[in-house]
Amino acid sequence: MVRYSKLAFRQTVYAYGTDICWTPMILAKEFNRSSVARHSDFTYSTSGPQPPTIVQLGANVPREMARASSLIIPHVGGVDLNCGCPQSWACAETLGAALMEKRELVRDMVLETRQRLHSDGWAVGKEKDVDSPKGRSVSVKIRVHKDLRKTIDFIDTVLGHEQDRNIDFLTIHPRTRNTPSTNPINLEALELLTNKYGDKVPILVSGDVFTMSTLPYKSPYLSPRENDEGRPYLPKLRGLMSARSLLANPALFAEHEVCPWDAVELFMNNVVRAPLPLKLVHHHLGEMCGPGYGPDKRSLLSKKERAELYNCSTMCDTIDFIEEKIMGVGGRDGIRRLPIPSTVRAI
Ligand SMILES: Cc1cc2nc3c(=O)[nH]c(=O)nc-3n(C[C@H](O)[C@H](O)[C@H](O)COP(=O)(O)O)c2cc1C
Repeated sequence: MVRYSKLAFRQTVYAYGTDICWTPMILAKEFNRSSVARHSDFTYSTSGPQPPTIVQLGANVPREMARASSLIIPHVGGVDLNCGCPQSWACAETLGAALMEKRELVRDMVLETRQRLHSDGWAVGKEKDVDSPKGRSVSVKIRVHKDLRKTIDFIDTVLGHEQDRNIDFLTIHPRTRNTPSTNPINLEALELLTNKYGDKVPILVSGDVFTMSTLPYKSPYLSPRENDEGRPYLPKLRGLMSARSLLANPALFAEHEVCPWDAVELFMNNVVRAPLPLKLVHHHLGEMCGPGYGPDKRSLLSKKERAELYNCSTMCDTIDFIEEKIMGVGGRDGIRRLPIPSTVRAI
């Protein structure tokens, strides 16, 4: 997530069962040319937990994407191309969702990237290299078109040959570039695309993953729920990606309906080791301590308390403020400790 999914946040969600963490979109051209961009856009851990990480790139030139990938790949598990960002500045530069109209260019970018990583000595053989320490992935995140036939043409072109496809996995955000995120995702499109392509390439869904108990579809990978009837069955869906709800509740994939205090505490501990600007820390805390996106609207802090939080003028004040609130709920012993899941089930 642009602005948000920096190292401290990625480490926090990883501790609560998220399998793979994406960086914010990084512009390949700037990353290749500017050491300032490299230092500010990408931080990885040299000591603490290093979550399995995918770097998401914004690119529209095959060589730029391949070069940026070559620079960053020693530190991450894979690179992903953003074909979903609907913001006007990105589309005006033929980045993000504008690439949904440039299927050959997207294919060329992933092909050149894969070739470059291969010639650098990385193992890009997809499933064959999944356990190799040199194994790296190349993937794409897309939106859908109003006319799904265009999305089918896009996926066919980008996937390439069935026996040796061009991408490791595909993330689908089933909204068009003009659909507001307040509209529900297009479940029919998701059902059609996962049924059509799910055996050819692992597919993840992005959009409306608000809580694990309120997903608008059924899947063999998810525990059955009481109100499952009437929801589409998606046997070939392989993973879930969350943005807004994970911001509000980093423990989402550990099946917490609302953000627990210990996630806030862990985030603050991570921030101390992998610092973030104060305003960004406040945004994160405001999201985590607010009412969230699930049906349970309990929040850790009231609106008034969140306003007080935003008024903390230093990091020390912010730490003291959060510490005080934690003590108010019974101190550290009063915080419910989570059994951190050892197995992976969702992304
Ligand atoms: C603050 C924020 C930043 C985002 N940044 C990115 C990004 O860098 N790359 C991307 O592909 N999508 C980005 N998205 C879109 C999300 O990945 C996701 O597709 C969309 O928000 C729908 O999922 P959700 O319902 O879980 O929020 C961002 C969304 C939000 C709310």
